[in-house]
Amino acid sequence: MKDYTKAEKKQIIKDFASHVSSGKAKTFKDYGMEFIIGKREGPYIWDITGKKKLINCHSNGGVFNLGHRNPEIVKTMHNALDELDIGNHHFISKQRADLGKKLAELMPGDLDYTVFGSGGGEAIDLALKLARAFTGKNDIISAIGGYHGHTGLAMATGDPEYKKPFGELAPGFIQIPFGDLESLKTKMQANTAAVILETIPATLGIVIPEKEYLQAVRKICDENGSLLILDEVQSGLGRTGKLWAFEHYDIIPDIVVIGKGLSGGIYPISATIFRKPYEAFFKKNPFIHISTFGGAEVGAAVALKVLEISSDPDFLSHVTQMAEYMKKGISALVSKHPKYLESFNQLGLMIGLRFTKEKYSLLFTKAAYESGMWALYANNDKNMVQILPPLIIDENHVEEIIDKIDKAVSKLKYYKIAFNIKEILNKLPW
Ligand SMILES: Cc1ncc(COP(=O)(O)O)c(C=O)c1O
Repeated sequence: MKDYTKAEKKQIIKDFASHVSSGKAKTFKDYGMEFIIGKREGPYIWDITGKKKLINCHSNGGVFNLGHRNPEIVKTMHNALDELDIGNHHFISKQRADLGKKLAELMPGDLDYTVFGSGGGEAIDLALKLARAFTGKNDIISAIGGYHGHTGLAMATGDPEYKKPFGELAPGFIQIPFGDLESLKTKMQANTAAVILETIPATLGIVIPEKEYLQAVRKICDENGSLLILDEVQSGLGRTGKLWAFEHYDIIPDIVVIGKGLSGGIYPISATIFRKPYEAFFKKNPFIHISTFGGAEVGAAVALKVLEISSDPDFLSHVTQMAEYMKKGISALVSKHPKYLESFNQLGLMIGLRFTKEKYSLLFTKAAYESGMWALYANNDKNMVQILPPLIIDENHVEEIIDKIDKAVSKLKYYKIAFNIKEILNKLPW
């Protein structure tokens, strides 16, 4: 990709502000972060002028698990484009059959069926629709501070701040604190269709649940005849060192939702994987839920390759090894910077840094950017910063990330808060 001039970049920002989002353009200007992605490769992204390089420690929440423009994925896409297109969502499809079969092989129990979508929110909507249709019940219990998307039913599971401006929503959505079994027991009713949780809530700051908690949730759902839906949009596909994060907990959910990384960072695709008995509903109503682009055939070919790479035991042990290096480095930083860093949560390469004050995590995102690292604070617990590097990082990348975190934290004391933090906090898009 060519390096654009400063004047060309200015024009792009102007066009974006005039025709895509003036609010976003202003927010990033105020934040001193007018970065436009140009070249991208492995764990790195460059500004369109070629002048600034960032190591990506957000990975769009897992979209870039395999790095940017992973050569195997790009090759798979090229090959798919030689023969395929989106396909037709009404017909039987070889690519969707292959991908569904592979997912069934890689999932435990009788999680044998998949409906494909093009984004995470859409796949969550389907999971909730299916839970209601199969159980004949209505209520959905989700976690306060959890995040499952901005579409209809997915949005309804979320916090009021994301729903308020959009009028009346579907009834029957109840929130409980994540990790609080007593609240769950109290809210569980005869009419509860499902409990939906992120296995590891990401927007809540990478909260790692106790094993006993998820096992008890599983039991309570079973006893109540309610389904357990686990959202692995961020935690799935090897992020935690196992292919699925729920494998750490020795439980099997009834429905699993994946997205983001399934795309290989190249072609959007998501999946709602569900237990065999629920297929009875679609058997009777095979065209009741359709998605024009869901499981597009070129995307299905890419997703199959993603699964092949991500389920390789060597790949998963690499993730675990890199996670160990990260743990060592971050532990040392927590000891070195007690004024700023309180602790960290980690499962594999899903890491949350807890800052001692909210303003430090906000400023850290900016300081990290200036040190050459892209890492974002967690929107639903603003003391936390998420560290989600691509899973293909090596030892040198880990050293680079630790060094950049160190530099960014060391810089915090020089930062003056020259803007209204609350205003910025409310506007930033993550
Ligand atoms: C855990 C989780 N679930 C669902 C979604 C929604 O996915 P999408 O943005 O593709 O609709 C997201 C997006 O960030 C997510 O993090």
